[in-house]
Amino acid sequence: MLSRAQALKLVDVHLAGSAVADHSIFVGDLMALLADLVRQDALLWQVTGYCHDLDILVTADTPSLHGPTAAQWLQGRLPPDALAAIAAHDHRSDIVAETALADGLKLADALAVFDLGVSRGVALQLRSSSAKVLVDRYLPPKPWLGTMIDGLSQSLGLSRLNLADCLDRLPRQR
Ligand SMILES: [Fe+2]
Ligand SMILES: [Fe+2]
Repeated sequence: MLSRAQALKLVDVHLAGSAVADHSIFVGDLMALLADLVRQDALLWQVTGYCHDLDILVTADTPSLHGPTAAQWLQGRLPPDALAAIAAHDHRSDIVAETALADGLKLADALAVFDLGVSRGVALQLRSSSAKVLVDRYLPPKPWLGTMIDGLSQSLGLSRLNLADCLDRLPRQR
């Protein structure tokens, strides 16, 4: 399996200096924290998060290939459940994966977009409000994020407090 350093190198090669590189690192680091809470393999979750958007620049015109392309590139370098999670993380691929890892990736991806779209102060209000309430109030252009965050955290057995505590431990994305 790819090491953490090898995965970060791939982010650099494919996404160098872009906002997606920063997003990918945030998603991976968030997944490592989430994995600890749900007693899963933190290194596998982190590396999967780092690599989940590697193909985003080359699939800009073919969104249904965003995810499957990166999964193909990573064949043999990540275990099958990680490849499936990456292939399925964007609904436009029409690929479904329902493991904890796949849910963790979708959750971390949604939380990263939420955290970037609102202030950190608002994100930390997850301690007292549902994501749906916060997204409806502070991020109306992306109404799907709230239901996604609430639903996926529930299916993983994570509380809103857990989510806020994880976000609180990470630096803001650029
Ligand atoms: Fe993506
Ligand atoms: Fe992403």
